[in-house]
Amino acid sequence: MFYLQIVREKIYQRKDVLTKSCDVDLVTEWDQKVEKLLIDGISSKYPDHRFIGEESTSSGQKIELTDAPTWIIDPIDGTMNFVHGLPYTCISVALLINKITEIGIVYNPILEQLFTARKGQGAFLNGAPIHVSNEKELRKALIMVEMGTSRNREKLEVVLQNITILTTYVHGIRSFGAAALNMCMVALGGADASFEFGIHAWDIAAGDLIVREAGGVSIDPAGGPFDVMSRRTLCASSMELARQLSKILVQYYPERD
Ligand code: IPD
Repeated sequence: MFYLQIVREKIYQRKDVLTKSCDVDLVTEWDQKVEKLLIDGISSKYPDHRFIGEESTSSGQKIELTDAPTWIIDPIDGTMNFVHGLPYTCISVALLINKITEIGIVYNPILEQLFTARKGQGAFLNGAPIHVSNEKELRKALIMVEMGTSRNREKLEVVLQNITILTTYVHGIRSFGAAALNMCMVALGGADASFEFGIHAWDIAAGDLIVREAGGVSIDPAGGPFDVMSRRTLCASSMELARQLSKILVQYYPERD
């Protein structure tokens, strides 16, 4: 497919980079092209379906999640990695009907890792079933964290406080720079939990289903139910682990999507 070729070819080429909310919130013409190709392709088959896309939203389109079939799309999650040629970048696509996620797809076209899930039918990597680690103890867990793309002082303080706190509690912390791939690592059992404040619906909609279908849990970082529009996410290999993590995290409440 043409949009996959774009990511594969352009990742190692020089790109013109624009910024969005701040100096480290990047976008390229390729993010915009991939999103347009995806939306045009899906619309031609399903003309009544609606879309929430990262780049359409940046260009001013209002975000509205209704009961109508809605595709939530991040054309290039890990844009910073894509810009630098770091091969941890992916396309993240979820289909929600009646606000419930039915399909989740996360594809890293560089490393050819295709994570898929359908509600009630399990999660898969390149067609083979995957399962979370089942780790229950925070002190033995490997946790995915992110700095995020905001340089808001208050938000950064919370990120740094959480990294400091976690360092003393867990086996280790890791950061891929692509939230959807972080969540897929939890689904795969390679990491035990992942959380972020200030993230957007398009970064987490597909990953949420993939983690749950792989046997994991997805909640609000304060312990309540996951809300795809809340810009807050915590997923883990077990509810025990998720609860331990939510108890020690310093919380941050960004404006909703
Ligand atoms: C970003 C990445 C990053 C996360 C940010 C996201 P983008 O998505 O997932 O890892 O920390 O919060 O915005 O901008 O590369 O699509």
